[in-house]
Amino acid sequence: MDAKKIVIAIDGHSSTGKSTVAKQLAKALQYIYVDTGAMYRAVTLYAMRKGYIDELQFQQEALELDLSKINIKFEINDETGLAEVLLNGENVENEIRTLSVSKHVSKIAAVSNVRKKLVEQQHQMGIDKGIVMDGRDIGTVVFPKAELKLFMTATAKDRAERRYMELKEKGEDVTYEDVLKNVVDRDHIDSTRKDSPLRQAGDAIKIDNSNLTLQEQFEQILLLAKATIARA
Ligand code: DC
Repeated sequence: MDAKKIVIAIDGHSSTGKSTVAKQLAKALQYIYVDTGAMYRAVTLYAMRKGYIDELQFQQEALELDLSKINIKFEINDETGLAEVLLNGENVENEIRTLSVSKHVSKIAAVSNVRKKLVEQQHQMGIDKGIVMDGRDIGTVVFPKAELKLFMTATAKDRAERRYMELKEKGEDVTYEDVLKNVVDRDHIDSTRKDSPLRQAGDAIKIDNSNLTLQEQFEQILLLAKATIARA
């Protein structure tokens, strides 16, 4: 008999490597991977392009009125085998990863109507299970009954260093101080917002990866996933 499929929810602070381990797990288990942060980032990019948000202002109502016009989808890149995000049919995978999108995304993600729209879509994607989903509220709101919930964390300094290296490698002109500030600011907004704040679900397993290599972390989590699938 085929192994039963489960839902794996991975939440945690910004830049804790949630998506790295989620991708590794999805590949090893032949599950679907969904990066929910990419969905909030795509809505943010839409708002930035429309001029609804910048350093000085945020026209929340204008964005809310446009929500029915915003279509977010994923498509598989045949070369990498990984899902990339489409905003109204346009592949925006690279653009959503810039520091300028990171600077605005937490404000957009605090809007209840934005969350409602995206959470409904996320829920549909996981209805047949066999999914690894990462974000901030997956184990608490999107799939409160997920069979395996992980909560990832690491020191802000470790996280900022990793994110800084990633952005530099992509050729972005950023300073370490700016990246650290963004990590700390986002933690604050994501954890203190009214709707679905970032918090560890009571039944989530905490993984502090400050002192773990990617391989060690993956091995630990794969064992947990296999044990959970065996019990399901
Ligand atoms: O995972 P990420 O850094 O790409 O997410 C970008 C932002 O989106 C993050 O700062 C908070 C928000 N987010 C959220 O509120 N809920 C989710 N499920 C995923 C992301």
